[in-house]
Amino acid sequence: ALPQTVKIVEVGPRDGLQNEKTVVPTEAKINLINMLSESGLPVIEATSFVSPKWVPQMADQVEVMKGISKKPGVSYPVLTPNLKGFQAALKAGASEVAIFGAASELFSKKNINCSVEESLQRFEEVMKAAKEAAVPVRGYVSCVVGCPYEGQVAPEKVAHVAKRLYSMGCYEISLGDTIGVGTPGSMTKMLEAVTKEVPVSALAVHCHDTYGQALANILIALQMGISVVDSSVAGLGGCPYAQGASGNVATEDVVYMLHGLGIKTGVDLSKLMDAGAFICRTINRKTSSKVAQATCKL
Ligand code: HMG
Ligand code: MG
Repeated sequence: ALPQTVKIVEVGPRDGLQNEKTVVPTEAKINLINMLSESGLPVIEATSFVSPKWVPQMADQVEVMKGISKKPGVSYPVLTPNLKGFQAALKAGASEVAIFGAASELFSKKNINCSVEESLQRFEEVMKAAKEAAVPVRGYVSCVVGCPYEGQVAPEKVAHVAKRLYSMGCYEISLGDTIGVGTPGSMTKMLEAVTKEVPVSALAVHCHDTYGQALANILIALQMGISVVDSSVAGLGGCPYAQGASGNVATEDVVYMLHGLGIKTGVDLSKLMDAGAFICRTINRKTSSKVAQATCKL
């Protein structure tokens, strides 16, 4: 049976904008996050506390965190790859963070400059500090069905990393199809392996739409009992360390599908579309959302 409600984790301001070539003004990021808050989204990943040499687009993380109007009831998690990032995030007022690992060694190396095992050790340090500060931690696993450097990824590897993150205390594990190569076939196999190790209530899916499979893959996840879906307004984004990866599935399209299934999200689609139109206008980019492109509005 499908879930009755789904929590959407909006990742556009982070996963979306981190990959934009031209610097997006801080003010535009703040306006975008505020508009997304007004649309009823429960979680908005705001920015990341990573090295500005690695991801220059996120260098204004402190200004973004201090500039946004935090709506009561909405969480604004930020990415923290290590203790340095965690401490900076805490200082900037973050009340939730995410650590991000991978099921592929080469991706881990290219993305966070360490092996999978080393990354898990760093995450333990973040987790310890987060527990002391009572900050909830979300865990990502990247390359859950395919890696830009290693090709296909074995479901067992994903299950292993997901279990490690869950065991160290992540309240939710987001399974990232970083380069959008998954199909309902490979997603099913991967989810079957992961749900043996981590309760389905603690899982989320994070689908990029490179091959146009994201909505189908999300539907598979829903049918397997997953009720948390990551998406990006206007389908913004890609990944700086995954050549050719297109944006995340568009939040507008996810909301349209979920509401069509009778699943509650709490999101006002028309306000969400205003936020998508705003950011596309501001950064002079065409929306990747099919719903936003549709001229026949139902
Ligand atoms: P490193 O070079 O190995 O780090 O990078 P280091 O510890 O050797 O430090 C080197 C320099 O970086 C030093 O500065 C540190 O102070 C600084 P220097 O002395 O040279 O001036 N530094 C930092 N600065 C700011 N914030 C920090 C920080 N840590 C060290 N937290 C590091 C390792 C992890 C820092 C680097 O590789 C990095 O920042 N990577 C981030 C990459 C990234 O953000 N990728 C995109 C997000 S992941 C993603 O998109 C996938 C996801 O969406 C899910 C999916 O789709 O699959 C989540
Ligand atoms: Mg991503």
